[in-house]
Amino acid sequence: MGAAVRVNGLRKQYGDVVAVDDVSFEVGAGEIVGLLGPNGSGKTTTVECVQGLRRADRGEIDIFGSDPRRDAPRVRRLVGSQLQDSALPDRIKVWEALRLFSVLSPQGPPWERLLDDWGLGPQRNTAFGDLSGGQRQRLFVALALVNEPKVVFLDEMTTGLDPAARRVAWDLVAAVRERGTAVVLVTHFMDEAARLCDRIMVLSAGRVVATGTPAELVAARTHGSIVRFTAGGPDGLDYLRGVPGVARLSRTGDQVEVAGTGPLLVRVAHALAVHHEEPADLRVELPSLEDAYLALTGGAAPAPRRAGKE
Ligand SMILES: Nc1ncnc2c1ncn2[C@@H]1O[C@H](COP(=O)(O)OP(=O)(O)O)[C@@H](O)[C@H]1O
Ligand SMILES: [Mg+2]
Repeated sequence: MGAAVRVNGLRKQYGDVVAVDDVSFEVGAGEIVGLLGPNGSGKTTTVECVQGLRRADRGEIDIFGSDPRRDAPRVRRLVGSQLQDSALPDRIKVWEALRLFSVLSPQGPPWERLLDDWGLGPQRNTAFGDLSGGQRQRLFVALALVNEPKVVFLDEMTTGLDPAARRVAWDLVAAVRERGTAVVLVTHFMDEAARLCDRIMVLSAGRVVATGTPAELVAARTHGSIVRFTAGGPDGLDYLRGVPGVARLSRTGDQVEVAGTGPLLVRVAHALAVHHEEPADLRVELPSLEDAYLALTGGAAPAPRRAGKE
C-alpha cells in the first residue's frame, strides 16, 4: 500500500508559541488515521499545514508525491477538506452550494450524484441556515468530496452532533474509505476513533506522544482489567484476594469490584464457582482507548510551549 501523505519534521510557530513541533506521520492510501489531542495541542495547525492552507515553518510534506507549498494546484485536486470552522452563507441552498463547489472542481463527480450519495436529496432546496446539525455535517462532507479527492481531512466532523447524527457521520466516513480515499480524522471522541481509525496519532503541546493502532495504544498505555459482580451475603469473598493476578478487591454494598491483570474474568469465575457463588451479572471491564488517552495526556490541555523553552 503506497503512502497518501508523508509528513516529516513539521514545525509551526505563531509568534513565540510553538503550535507544532517535529511532527512526523504517514497515511497509507485507503487508510483512516485519527489525530487526537487536547484543545490547543496542534491538530488543526497540523492538518491545515499539510493541506497547504497554512504555511509550515519547517518540515517535509508529501501528498502523493507533491508538496503543497510547491505544487498547490495539484494538491488541491488530490485533497478534500472539511475545516473545523466551516460555514456557508445562511441563504445558500444545498444544491447551489454543491453546484458552486463542483464548478471549481471540474474533475469531480456530477454534484447531483453527491446529493444522492449523501442523502441530501430531500434537502436539495433547503437554505443552509435551515439545515439541522447532522444535515450540515453531511453537506460539508459532500463538499469535501466534490473533487473526488484521494485523501480527505475531516477536522472535528462530529463535534456538536447528536448521537444519531454521529452514527450517520461514521457510516459516511466508512463509505469514503470504501471508495479507496484516505482519511485524516481529527476528533475528540474516543469511541469514534476506536471504531473508525486504522491508526491513531496522539498530540500533546504540539508533539506526537503516541502512535499505533487503537488496540496497540490500549495495550501499551493501560494496565489490567476490572471484574464486577453482585454478591448477596455480607462478606466471605476474601478468598478472591488469593486468586492469581488479583491486585485489589473492594465492595460497595452488594457491588463487588476485583481489579487485576491476566485472564482475570476466567480466574475469578473459577474461584467463585468453587465456592458455590454464582452471580448472574459477572462481567469484565476492559480498558478502553479513552483510558489510554487519559493516561497519555493526563486529561488536561498543557500550556502551549514557547520558543526557546523546553
Ligand atoms: N492563527 C493563530 N495565531 C496564533 N496562535 C494560534 C493560531 N492558531 C492556533 N494557534 C495556537 O496554536 C496552538 C495549537 O492550536 P490548534 O492547532 O488550533 O490546536 P487544536 O486544533 O489541537 O485545538 C494553540 O496554542 C493555539 O492557541
Ligand atoms: Mg482544532
